[in-house]
Amino acid sequence: MTLTAIKQKTCILLKPDALEKNVVGKILDRLESEGFKLVAIKLIPPSKQLLEQFYAEHSGKEFYERFMEFMLSGPLIATAWEGENIVQRSRDVIGATNSKEAKPGTLRNLYGTDNRKNLVHGSDSPSSALRELKIMFRELD
Ligand code: CDP
Ligand code: MG
Repeated sequence: MTLTAIKQKTCILLKPDALEKNVVGKILDRLESEGFKLVAIKLIPPSKQLLEQFYAEHSGKEFYERFMEFMLSGPLIATAWEGENIVQRSRDVIGATNSKEAKPGTLRNLYGTDNRKNLVHGSDSPSSALRELKIMFRELD
């Protein structure tokens, strides 16, 4: 099946474990190698308010509190990327939510730890990408 090429933006967060493990360069390198274009990047100090807004859809879920604790354990790096069908393609490169089940060669398989410490966030639709980019890059509005 050939997908019609649609240029999209996506929001990818390098979570605190990515910085902790010193694999930021490897992740950015991999995303660039896929042909994705980096359009914005910044270091975000831990902020409960920002993360609660970003992850509002998960509020109240059984994993939420421990997940937030992990996300607040250190700074993260917010990135914005552009590319054809990038939302799905970047999620393919990132791999399944549980790092232990992520396909060989995906970022989470290579550098993730488990279901929670899974290295990166990638937007799951073009509309969530726009919502997430607005939260992380207010100044670009
Ligand atoms: O990130 P992804 O879209 O693959 O997964 P999600 O279902 O949207 O969950 C958001 C994040 O919550 C995951 O990336 C995990 O870091 C975390 N999570 C967790 O801590 N425990 C779970 N049982 C499921 C997800
Ligand atoms: Mg998600």
